[in-house]
Amino acid sequence: MPTHTIPVIAIDGPTASGKGTVAHRVADKLGFHYLDSGALYRLTALMALRRGTDLADEHALAKLAEHLPCSFTGSSVILSHENVTDAIRAEEVGNTASKIATFPAVRHALTGLQLGFRKAPGLVADGRDMGSVIFPHAPLKVFLTASVDARADRRYKQLIDKGISANMEDLLMDLRARDERDTNRAIAPLIPAEGAHVLDTSSMTADQAVEEVLKWYAAVIK
Ligand code: DC
Repeated sequence: MPTHTIPVIAIDGPTASGKGTVAHRVADKLGFHYLDSGALYRLTALMALRRGTDLADEHALAKLAEHLPCSFTGSSVILSHENVTDAIRAEEVGNTASKIATFPAVRHALTGLQLGFRKAPGLVADGRDMGSVIFPHAPLKVFLTASVDARADRRYKQLIDKGISANMEDLLMDLRARDERDTNRAIAPLIPAEGAHVLDTSSMTADQAVEEVLKWYAAVIK
């Protein structure tokens, strides 16, 4: 199957919109591969934080991104043989990822790695610019969103479930700051791609959202 004919479902949206859960389930249902592009930005951020890389040094950060010694096995994320699945989910890592993602050189360095996930029989790609930049010809593009309150609520529950203490006010502040940065950056801003189906999941369960995406996909391949 030539690569450009392998179907891609691009699922973009803001942080804590539930797109990770939805994208994962859609991939499972269709037997497709799954790309968590945010994990690549988080891995770069984690490496930079651990190495003490200057977070304003675009060139040094891009170099880290270009040679990211990472692999994905099942739902585990591995960095140089270390399982960093939980470590990359820390709020500090997410915030740093959002900051370094504003650098064009970092985004450029991660492009090839992301394109490499397009393998038969298909790919569900989750991120911010999957439909707008990385896979602009994806047959289905979805922009998953939810109100900032619904998202803060979900993040709060996730953290409490993991035994991590959380403060709603801080979460709301962080989400707003991250939305602002992701939406207003000059390169690959978080906006619905042309032709994207917008799905507001504020009052939907993950399964309802999955169903909707599968319905759209069935219509696309008909
Ligand atoms: O989806 P996430 O929260 O794991 O992503 C972490 C950060 O990475 C996010 O705040 C912005 C950045 N990111 C990006 O700029 N482009 C992507 N395709 C995915 C993530």
